[in-house]
Amino acid sequence: MSSLSSKDGPRIRHAADASQPYETIGVDKLTPIIGAEIKGVDLARPLSNRTVDELHRALAENIVIFFRDQHITPQQHLAFGRLFGELHIHPAAPHEPGEPALMKIHADKDSLRANGEGWHSDVSCDLEPPMGSILYIKQCPPHGGDTLFASMYAAYDALSDRMKTYLQGLTAVHDGEMVYRGLYADAGVADKPSYPRAVHPVVRTHPVTGKKALYVNRGFTSHILGLPRDESDAILAYLYQHAESPLFQCRFRWTENAIAFWDNRCSQHRAMWDYWPHTRSGTRVTIKGERPA
Ligand code: SIN
Repeated sequence: MSSLSSKDGPRIRHAADASQPYETIGVDKLTPIIGAEIKGVDLARPLSNRTVDELHRALAENIVIFFRDQHITPQQHLAFGRLFGELHIHPAAPHEPGEPALMKIHADKDSLRANGEGWHSDVSCDLEPPMGSILYIKQCPPHGGDTLFASMYAAYDALSDRMKTYLQGLTAVHDGEMVYRGLYADAGVADKPSYPRAVHPVVRTHPVTGKKALYVNRGFTSHILGLPRDESDAILAYLYQHAESPLFQCRFRWTENAIAFWDNRCSQHRAMWDYWPHTRSGTRVTIKGERPA
């Protein structure tokens, strides 16, 4: 193990890179903690079982994986998502006509907001939140529009032992109502009578890697159960600030026709809307997940 420490900030430990070599894909890490660019894969062509297995492994090892220069149709985007599980339908966001599993991600000079501008984990208000999302950006602004990703394994690992003990067994409410009501009115989407709300563990264990990840986020988590509200607010404020340390992050600079595929169970992300009045546009396919344990 190697350890990076700053005197006053969070401590990070990461295992020396001991992963098996890949045979059918190239995996170029962005940081030791999170993010890798995948090379040698054309998602417009059928993928071998070996390649799909290696992509599963690259995702598990790197939390978010990126592909550049991909020219895929909406049907190929959906089919790529289905290789990893059943597709998730977003409870609120606009989608492409006739394709509820193809969520629109678009901001231009007339937009009032852009998707995902604050740190969050996708749709964590669902009882079974998504396992991952595959974002395909076809049109980029000349500069900006990056997405930041943060490892919630690293955030959990860097907590003090006292804090880990304190959080053990706690659960928190994730409330879609406070996020989604009225959010897409400018895109012509009428509100639903209600939005999902769920109770999840504050620390979850990843079903594939078995590692623990911090699982509260500014976007959806309203409060920790069983604590006075002021204590819950203070603990959540600390955890959000801790989880947003740049030590746990990578930042992806988009190019046209690039794809980001993140594991939503152990990461948070945040989109930068720093490119107004330019346009950034694409689609997202989201894959169903399981109930956090
Ligand atoms: C999101 O899915 O939260 C949006 C991410 C992005 O547009 O970069």
